[in-house]
Amino acid sequence: MPRLAVIGFPVGHSRSPAMQNAALQALGLGEEWRYEAIEVAPEGFEARVRAMPGEGFVGANVTVPHKLAALALADVASEAASEIGAANTLSFAAGGIAAENTDAGGLLAALAGAGGAGSSPGDGPAEVSGRRALVLGAGGAARAVCWALAEAGAQVEIWNRTAARAEALVADLHAAATAVREPDGGSYGIVVNTTAVGLHGEDPFAELPLSPRDFSSAQTVVDMVYGERPSPLLEAATAAGAATVDGLEVLVQQGALSFEIWTGVAPDLDVMRVAARGTAHR
Ligand code: ATR
Repeated sequence: MPRLAVIGFPVGHSRSPAMQNAALQALGLGEEWRYEAIEVAPEGFEARVRAMPGEGFVGANVTVPHKLAALALADVASEAASEIGAANTLSFAAGGIAAENTDAGGLLAALAGAGGAGSSPGDGPAEVSGRRALVLGAGGAARAVCWALAEAGAQVEIWNRTAARAEALVADLHAAATAVREPDGGSYGIVVNTTAVGLHGEDPFAELPLSPRDFSSAQTVVDMVYGERPSPLLEAATAAGAATVDGLEVLVQQGALSFEIWTGVAPDLDVMRVAARGTAHR
């Protein structure tokens, strides 16, 4: 039986097992394949991963805090994974361990699906090309977001509460981006919140350099935070007529790309969306 897993620390909150097992079942692969959750602390990560091929695993998603270590232990890495400096997807083959980063492609797929000003559904990264993008935050989640947007042709500006961290990310990133201290929120075509603000009910407009008045129908607003209800940031964006993308849609899209890498088959996105949202309060 081919096995798959998500590896994290902690991992109990992960929606990936529900989402990926639902996708396997919908394709009739549910009897054969199984997707599990594996919790392992950083000190045990490498040994755990190296044991997996011998236990029947064909691949794994990697989540916080192991994404850098996943890239480091891989024998081969995609351009996206090496330039981002992190991997969220591993594949085990006879030739060794391959690292990929589907967080980047997942974001672009989610943006393409959201449409937005001047685009038609399915336009893909063309909608990103040439637009100014503001990325809020400079932590782990921001890396793949900034790289994906720059790679797809956006002019990326990064704001972070601790400005030095935004500057460090700009210097470290293998992509064109600049750090910005006082962004004019209304001037961007794309705004992506990668910070933890909103996760615990904080007011995003008190913590971030944005006002609800900044949003307009010319924008696409992404909030990587997700919960049972739309975040206050996305509620304000929707009220202003902006196209919106939540973190769960990005999760679904990155998961679908990983699924295809392992199985060679494209999963049903709606099945994955229902399963991911259905576990929102567990
Ligand atoms: P992740 O891997 O999810 O990105 P992280 O690396 O801990 O997590 O980064 C969290 C991000 O949220 C950082 O950009 C952090 O800003 P600092 O670098 O200044 O700490 C940001 N963040 C967390 N709480 C915040 C708040 N109340 N206001 C603004 N930014 C906040």
